[in-house]
Amino acid sequence: MRKAIIAGNWKMNKTPAEAAELVSELIPLVKDADCDVVVCVPAADFTVVGEAIKGTNIKLGAQNVHFAKSGAYTGELSADMLKACGVEYVVIGHSERRQYFGETDKTVNLRTLAAVEAGLTPIICVGEMKDEREAGYTDIIVEYQTLMALHGLTDEAIKAAVIAYEPVWAIGTGLTATDEQANETIGVIRKAIERKYGKDVADAVRIQYGGSMNPKNVKGLMAQPEIDGGLIGGASLKAPDFSQVVLYNK
Ligand code: 13P
Repeated sequence: MRKAIIAGNWKMNKTPAEAAELVSELIPLVKDADCDVVVCVPAADFTVVGEAIKGTNIKLGAQNVHFAKSGAYTGELSADMLKACGVEYVVIGHSERRQYFGETDKTVNLRTLAAVEAGLTPIICVGEMKDEREAGYTDIIVEYQTLMALHGLTDEAIKAAVIAYEPVWAIGTGLTATDEQANETIGVIRKAIERKYGKDVADAVRIQYGGSMNPKNVKGLMAQPEIDGGLIGGASLKAPDFSQVVLYNK
């Protein structure tokens, strides 16, 4: 049995003061969660959030990581830096990074390797654009993105990794993949991992759904056998909403 994992992706939201307020509201609300709970916050919030969640069941996540150990990479953060800030999870290859910042499958792979090497758990995002789904390319796209991201990882590292299937057309749009669409595509991702790495690995890796997941649709999505959790954008910015998603089974 895979343990569910619900992660909030705050994106570029919340100053440290706002972050402290949100997380202090969240802590008591999610303390009885059965799933793993993660908040992926802007680097500016690592310290306040990290301090606030000490001793709680909430884990700290980042939203990106560079692949070099150190060096002349203005504006980037290394995996060791994240680790030293108490970060345990890191989102890699989010579609916003791919669309607006030129991330490629190659850099997603390098970032994943660096994260794993430093002992961070990657949350690797894959997903098709609207026109790609309409043209019938969803499976090819998600299989390719997934296998490219995992290239060079050990079986053990893949088992411990998290993949987030986020159809780009469902992000921040209020459109959600249907329960069946999400389940089917996540099944495609798992099958691709199985073909390359074997059933043992494919059965262990946790695959989330992301894209307008909220308190209303979480139950249906989480009832699907392939869906192991969620990566939540908008609904993670309000403690009552995020906690309802986290407590989807209560
Ligand atoms: P929304 O939940 O706002 O659609 O965002 C999803 C997402 O991109 C999480 O990484």
